[in-house]
Amino acid sequence: MIGIKTKIEDVVKTDNSMIDFFNKEKIDFCCNGHMTVEEIAKEKNIDANDLAKKIQGAIKSDNSNREDIMNIDDFKNSDIKEMIDSLIIDHHKRERDLLFEIDPLLNKILSVHFARHGEELMKLHSLFADLKKELEEHFVKEEEITFPLMLENESPSQEVIKKVEELETDHEEAGDIIKEMIELTDWFETPEDACRTYVHTFNLLEKLVKDVFIHIFKENSIMFEKYREKGGK
Ligand SMILES: [Fe+2]
Ligand SMILES: [Fe+2]
Repeated sequence: MIGIKTKIEDVVKTDNSMIDFFNKEKIDFCCNGHMTVEEIAKEKNIDANDLAKKIQGAIKSDNSNREDIMNIDDFKNSDIKEMIDSLIIDHHKRERDLLFEIDPLLNKILSVHFARHGEELMKLHSLFADLKKELEEHFVKEEEITFPLMLENESPSQEVIKKVEELETDHEEAGDIIKEMIELTDWFETPEDACRTYVHTFNLLEKLVKDVFIHIFKENSIMFEKYREKGGK
């Protein structure tokens, strides 16, 4: 529970995603993390209790929509239309948001930590740019071309199967980029001297990668398989 005596750094330690809230509110969680809600409120000339409530509310609203992905069992038992809806809402949207969030953070830590970690961060920055391009273009292909074709052609035609295979190739390409990222960072392990933004960026990258893994699994191993079976293939 957040009170007026709560230190800002303690909020961030328990919930890294609050970094975005503090950035938006122009509250310095990095160098002034030791300050309490009361001290920050005094500095900003606002009511300390109101600020504490606002912080508490931000934690709650963030938690409320965090783990709402349809689980694998429910997904397996859905029809193609429900699967497509779930993939777009649970994964495309989530991953687009994460890509958007990670992009400036990665750029920031690249500048700040260039002296000591420039080599790794340059490579990571470049791999991330490749992954972002790959995924964003892949999502739009699915949403605008292949998924509608799958819905229109309940029994799969050669043309649609070919489109599905193209998506599977894209998945392999995205998977290869992710594998390089994992190898480079030793599964998003941060160095000893990493600041909170560094740790937060790596946590978000890990979250993105895990989501992409589940997403690809649901498409390749469940939905595409089910779709092919409809054609007796
Ligand atoms: Fe997808
Ligand atoms: Fe896909």
